[in-house]
Amino acid sequence: MLHWVSKKTKYILIVILVFLSILQFVGPERPATTTENPGDILQVANISPEISDMLKSACYDCHSMETQYPWYASIAPVSWFLYRHINHGREELNFSEWAFLDKRSKLRVLKDIQEVLEEGEMPLSSYVNMHEEAELTDAQKEALMAWAKEFAGVVIKE
Ligand code: HEC
Repeated sequence: MLHWVSKKTKYILIVILVFLSILQFVGPERPATTTENPGDILQVANISPEISDMLKSACYDCHSMETQYPWYASIAPVSWFLYRHINHGREELNFSEWAFLDKRSKLRVLKDIQEVLEEGEMPLSSYVNMHEEAELTDAQKEALMAWAKEFAGVVIKE
C-alpha cells in the first residue's frame, strides 16, 4: 500500500496522524446542549415563523443551548475553535435564557442585534461558509433588524 510514497513521506504522515490522535484527548469540553429551555425567546415571546426560522438557522448554533453540532465539530483542533465560538457567543447572547434577562439587558441585546446585522458582522462568515442555510439575504437582514426594533417596543411596555 502507498508504495509510490517515499519512506520519509510515510514517516511524516504517521507522525501527523499520531499527533492528531493525541489532540482528540486534550482541549476544551464540548459546550452542553439541552432542548428543555422554558426561558427561550421562542417559548416566551410571540415571534413570527419567518423570524424564528431565521434565528434558528442563522444564530441558534452559537447563541442558544440548542446548538446542533455537525460531524466535524468533534474533531480536534476544529472542535477547539468551534467550542470557543459557541461559549463566547452564548456569553454575549443566549436566546435560551431570554426570560431571565432584565429589561435593560433585553433592550441592549435587541440594539446589538440591529448593529451586528447592519455591520454584516453576524452570522460569522466562517460559519456561513460551512452552513449555506445561515446565509441571510439583504431582505432577510432588513426583516430581522425591523423585528428587533419593533420587539424592543414590546419589551419597553412589559
Ligand atoms: C458561529 C457562531 C455564531 C453565529 C452563527 C452567530 N454569532 Fe453572534 N456572536 C458570536 C461570537 C463568538 C460573538 C462574540 C464575539 C464577537 O462579538 O465577535 C457574538 C456576538 C454577538 C452579539 C454581541 C455583539 C456585540 O458587539 O455586542 C450579537 C448581538 C450577536 N452575536 C448576534 C447574532 C445574530 C443575530 C446572529 C444570527 C443572525 C448571530 N449572532 C450568529 C458567534 C456567532
